[in-house]
Amino acid sequence: MNQIDMSRKQPLAQVSAAVESLHSRFESYLHSPVGVILGTGLGQWVESLEGQLCIDYSDIVGFPRSTVRSHAGNLCAGWIDKVPVLALQGRFHLYEGYSPDQVCFGVRTLARFGVKKMIITNAAGALNPLFHPGEMMVISDQINMTGHNPLIGLSYGEPQFPDMSQLYSQKLMKLVHSKALELNYRLQEGVYIGILGPSLETPAETRAYRALGADAIGMSTVMETIAACQMGMEILGLSCLTNKNLPDCMVPTSLEEIIDVGQDIEPRLTALLNVVIPEMHAMK
Ligand code: HPA
Repeated sequence: MNQIDMSRKQPLAQVSAAVESLHSRFESYLHSPVGVILGTGLGQWVESLEGQLCIDYSDIVGFPRSTVRSHAGNLCAGWIDKVPVLALQGRFHLYEGYSPDQVCFGVRTLARFGVKKMIITNAAGALNPLFHPGEMMVISDQINMTGHNPLIGLSYGEPQFPDMSQLYSQKLMKLVHSKALELNYRLQEGVYIGILGPSLETPAETRAYRALGADAIGMSTVMETIAACQMGMEILGLSCLTNKNLPDCMVPTSLEEIIDVGQDIEPRLTALLNVVIPEMHAMK
């Protein structure tokens, strides 16, 4: 067996070990659960889960260990209107030094628990001049600018070359638009570009990313969606726009600002998730 086989089989075995270790505690939540990943500053939503059971990532066999600087992380199970949900409260980023396998560990764990419909949220900077901080954006497509790909090396199964012509589900985009309208929330729609980070962008980079066709920018999501796509999931992506980057009048951005604005958006994100999840679960 060559070196590549060895290094790529280990993560798969670790996902299996995590799933086995949790199975008995999560058993009652495993009837086609909807999966959710909660981004920076958006973790409070798990409080709205009925019958909530949260397990610290550090107590799960094989889960990546958090770096000192990273956010607290929990795998949470619960129900919204009798619909089972498995949620990753906090994620791992490439910029923290995690490998693509580590970044995708959570989503691969959810897939092994039977998640077929996945909501991936993040905090992002607006690049489209018509979008504003404080708004939400449903992701219609993505550009992976990280230079990484979680499918490099041995495949985690088939397909090894997943089709990405419809990465984000049109059906789920339509559903979330109709629910946002009912709630009277402005919901933008656009392309998310995922960069490596952790430095923020220069004006020249901002101009270049906008010229590439991006409406919002962030440092997460694109690894997880590629892994989720390979595992055949239907994906809904929601960005919370926390700041705005215009190349000709750049203003400084800080993590504090991103977290503060994310927290302002959070009640609306929570309300939206709570009405979208039951319907998406029922959708064929
Ligand atoms: N750039 C990159 N990532 C981000 C930003 C940004 O402006 N805002 C939130 N995440």
